[in-house]
Amino acid sequence: MGRVDWLLSKMTLQEKVGQLNLVTAGQVVTGPSGSGDVMANVRAGTVGGVFNIWGREPVAVLQRAAVEESRLGVPLFFGLDVLHGFKTIFPSPLAEAGAFDPLLWEETARAAAEEAASEGIDLTFAPMLDICRDSRWGRIVEGPGEDPLVGAKFAQAKIRGFQGAGLSSSVALAATAKHFCGGGAAQAGRDYAAIDMSDRELHETYLPPFAAAVAAGCAAVMPAFNSLAGIPLTAHGALVTGWLREKRGFDGVVVSDYTAIAELVEHGVAADEVEAAALALKAGVDMDMVSGCYLRLPEALSRGLVAEADIDAAARRVLALKEKLGLLDDPYLRLAPARAPRKTWSELALDAARRSIVLLMNRDALPLDANIRRLAVVGPLADARAEMLGPWSAAGDPAKAVTTLDALRATWTQGDVLHHRGVDIDGGDASGIGAARALCETADAIVLCLGESAGMSGEAASRAMPGLPGRQRELAEAALSAGPPVVLVLSSGRPLMIADLIERAAAVVASWQLGDRTGDAIADVLLGRFNPSGRLAVTWPRDVGQIPLHYAQRSTGRPPQSTDPFTSKYLDLPNDPLFHFGYGLSFASVSLKNLRATPEEFDDAPVRIEVEASNDGKVATEATIFLFLHDAVASVARPVMELKEWAKVALAPGEARTVSFLLDRSHFQFLDRTLEPVVEAGDFDVRVGLDADSRSALETRIRLRGPTLAADRPSDAITDVPG
Ligand code: NOJ
Repeated sequence: MGRVDWLLSKMTLQEKVGQLNLVTAGQVVTGPSGSGDVMANVRAGTVGGVFNIWGREPVAVLQRAAVEESRLGVPLFFGLDVLHGFKTIFPSPLAEAGAFDPLLWEETARAAAEEAASEGIDLTFAPMLDICRDSRWGRIVEGPGEDPLVGAKFAQAKIRGFQGAGLSSSVALAATAKHFCGGGAAQAGRDYAAIDMSDRELHETYLPPFAAAVAAGCAAVMPAFNSLAGIPLTAHGALVTGWLREKRGFDGVVVSDYTAIAELVEHGVAADEVEAAALALKAGVDMDMVSGCYLRLPEALSRGLVAEADIDAAARRVLALKEKLGLLDDPYLRLAPARAPRKTWSELALDAARRSIVLLMNRDALPLDANIRRLAVVGPLADARAEMLGPWSAAGDPAKAVTTLDALRATWTQGDVLHHRGVDIDGGDASGIGAARALCETADAIVLCLGESAGMSGEAASRAMPGLPGRQRELAEAALSAGPPVVLVLSSGRPLMIADLIERAAAVVASWQLGDRTGDAIADVLLGRFNPSGRLAVTWPRDVGQIPLHYAQRSTGRPPQSTDPFTSKYLDLPNDPLFHFGYGLSFASVSLKNLRATPEEFDDAPVRIEVEASNDGKVATEATIFLFLHDAVASVARPVMELKEWAKVALAPGEARTVSFLLDRSHFQFLDRTLEPVVEAGDFDVRVGLDADSRSALETRIRLRGPTLAADRPSDAITDVPG
């Protein structure tokens, strides 16, 4: 008998359900209620894991109580939301997704894991893999953006990074893929709201990142709070057990979200907490975060709602996770003496921050001119340390964050940096606008730092009107009419819908929330010390009325035509976004030419797509080249464009390079009318461009010959695609 089974055989029913109980220790507050006397419950053996606590001493105290004072001495595991850093804070996930660089995604996760593990953390509630096409939803900031392929590659990279070479390593964290699934499509972008979508949408768009996470060996999965077509994900047996475990082969732990099991009562699918516990357990949820409902599973057993075997199965999975994490061998594995903070983590934070910045507009205003003598740095985000860290700053220290003002003052030596806050981020006080404008009038150029506070995106931070809060719009008007050119620096967790202001600025930088080194990264871009290379991982709408807006719209029988009113469009806005998915400028422009496919007609052989990219500018640059496919005729209407590959290429001034992609059959597969994967012969349009704007992409048609074939693997596993 293995250790896990041996332990299980020694446990009372209460001790088994204790293993399923995940409690918060409250060092940070990430939900509505607490978990009572944690220490007493640990001693009683009714706690399986604790989250929201870190640091060698606090963790060791609880672990000692579990190991030395509970009857069987089963160690706890310790969890935390380490999404984009532990103490060293990296860019928010949506920002970092825009680097389109799986190696970077992996490196920052690895650093965060090492740092968190050295302070007792065993498991992170990350990566967050919600595809989102609705920037009203505040949690868009936590995930990889709108595209399933990006989401899938992001999932793999993050899991490789967090889990490292193996869970039993003292510097590895168990990763939790969340929120399974579809929360990014919550109705009207309202957090926690119901989700209703087609099975096709679910399988084509929302599940692929989770398929990738499972394939990458993620240790845990967290169901979303929401209901999907009337079934709360916390009680969704068909998805949690059917799809995740049986179809995908996931053998890890499913951990509920915060009080989500008790919320099954509020959802109206359980009459009381005992029924709620039974529903969740039967669906395949192993651990109960905070609600305490699973401690009532013995009651569910006596009511005949669950079998002891269900409880055993869940407890076995939790114990198996502890074994994989090395905790059954050494409960103090991740409490090694603290290392001195590694300078390289801070350097990595700067590198990641710079590569996440997206230059949205530049009318020759950037890099800032060498003749500028007086630089006005204005706005409530110019010097707002705590707002730089983003949605999940874990053990990050806001005092350490570098602001744009700090960095410009420290490194801009050619003249004076003048500063006025103008207005608060939110609120009605406009009394500072006059003074800010007066200061702008005396300057040679204005850096206008506007946007959201960190708390305005993330969990419980949906916004019906994602523009500039408070009196910032008036401040923007004042700065834009003051005379000098305005460089608008936008800090936000989502695209902000302020098209009119963006169009009037001399340059616009999307700086998201970039973590500890935010200001340094922004200053490097403003001063031309770094050539921006970030691209949008999410389409930037013109206005809220266009939402949900994304590049992979499904085709319509009446595609928009300017001359024909009876086509799919608005009377009052173009269909096009303000900025397309994949968009971003650099200080050198790149052009693409000579798109070719070899062969143009093929059976089974891979087809090579080549394009020539040249740097037409005067500085070295990095281009991101996207390859989209459109299935011209298929048994199901396909999206007008689907991302299948991308490549990044470094180009010296004047340099041209051939970039090549290899497409095999799996790139052409999709789900047929019965949602079975299929590859259909026929014509495909290949579009290669610098973003998802089909008007500027190069296009060629290729033909896949031969019979229509069932695909050899499910197409919600798109990451099996090489590269
Ligand atoms: C609720 C959030 O939805 C989830 O993402 C997070 O992991 C938990 N709280 C724990 O903090």
